[in-house]
Amino acid sequence: MDLFEYQARDLFESYGVPVLPGIVADTPEAVKAAAEKLGGVTVVKAQVKVGGRGKAGGVKVAKDPAAAEEAARAILGLDIKGHTVKRVMVAGGAQIKQEYYFSVLLDRANRSYLSLSSYEGGMEIEELAVERPEALARIEVDPLVGVDLDVATKIAIAANFPADIVDKVAPVFVKLYEVYKGEDATLVEVNPLVLTEQGDIVALDGKVSLDENADFRHPNHEALVDTDSEDPLEAKAKKLGLNYVKLDGEVGIIGNGAGLVMSTLDVVSYAGEKYHGVKPANFLDIGGGASAEVMANGLDVIFGDPQTKSVFVNVFGGITSCDAVANGIVGALKSLGAAATKPIVVRLDGNNVEEGRRILAEYAHPLVTLAENMDQGADKAAELASL
Ligand SMILES: Nc1ncnc2c1ncn2[C@@H]1O[C@H](COP(=O)(O)OP(=O)(O)O)[C@@H](O)[C@H]1O
Ligand SMILES: [Mg+2]
Repeated sequence: MDLFEYQARDLFESYGVPVLPGIVADTPEAVKAAAEKLGGVTVVKAQVKVGGRGKAGGVKVAKDPAAAEEAARAILGLDIKGHTVKRVMVAGGAQIKQEYYFSVLLDRANRSYLSLSSYEGGMEIEELAVERPEALARIEVDPLVGVDLDVATKIAIAANFPADIVDKVAPVFVKLYEVYKGEDATLVEVNPLVLTEQGDIVALDGKVSLDENADFRHPNHEALVDTDSEDPLEAKAKKLGLNYVKLDGEVGIIGNGAGLVMSTLDVVSYAGEKYHGVKPANFLDIGGGASAEVMANGLDVIFGDPQTKSVFVNVFGGITSCDAVANGIVGALKSLGAAATKPIVVRLDGNNVEEGRRILAEYAHPLVTLAENMDQGADKAAELASL
């Protein structure tokens, strides 16, 4: 989960990373009040989860509260790379002398952590990496050691910071690593980290990605979820504990096991080419078990997607036998009753498949079609979605 800048700022502050005050607001009037409260020069910053806000007109310096209000009128509602600005942060204005770059991230390929840093900040890091790769220090961070003051000093020296600045930035690197580790992040990035005219180091823009696999250790992370822009179907599925991802097509998909579901998406896309290019409407892995309750929840979420025209249930019975899955489907249809509204193609194979098919054939629900195999099921589901 990526955080908004203001959320990253708050986290940084709680770990003792030097930041400027920031107040979130969603109307020009509230922005004016926030600027009055902060006093002096402020900066009005669009809160959207994309980079390059400055270049897109989403970051404006305001010399007084009236100017902040005017900046808010320009920024609120602005579209930045497909993200509509609903909120801004009014931040204290820094007098910047120099801009630097620092990040620490999970380096999956090397099964390690990696720190990237540069004395030459201020430009997009992707650009810097391409145009002046020698200016970007890439230092592997041993997860068992982390970034202590020694490691931080090495990082700063590798990034060409002059000695007097090394002493100032290294303790900040240590604190940023504490955020990374303490919050189970996969990325903590500061761009720019600045040296002010007053000689202070301040994190002016923070980007943090949290590892959702560690959510159980961080009950406070739930409050960071952006429920406003979450897809309502994905939110509902999440509440039900389902692995669901909304896609753009018309054929709802339910399968057991992520690999099978992924290949089902491929097979349905391929079959859909014959039927006006219909495509999968979602990814949904109901995992092992596939009880009536899980099946009902899955079908309920999929029926709730107005774009979905048909459903393909593709289950391979392994530890869970096909008769249990078939009973799950029957139970789900009974509990959904009139809420079951779209044709369902079912392909069952594997453990106890005959009994599974018999159960479904006997129940003979008007919406259910049994498929002989995966290709035929995909074809049928795509055809039904195109009618
Ligand atoms: N609080 C601030 N005070 C002064 N200048 C700022 C402040 N915040 C951002 N800036 C300036 O605006 C630029 C872009 O802002 P930033 O927060 O990095 O957004 P983005 O990376 O999305 O463009 C920064 O590089 C910095 O020069
Ligand atoms: Mg930035």
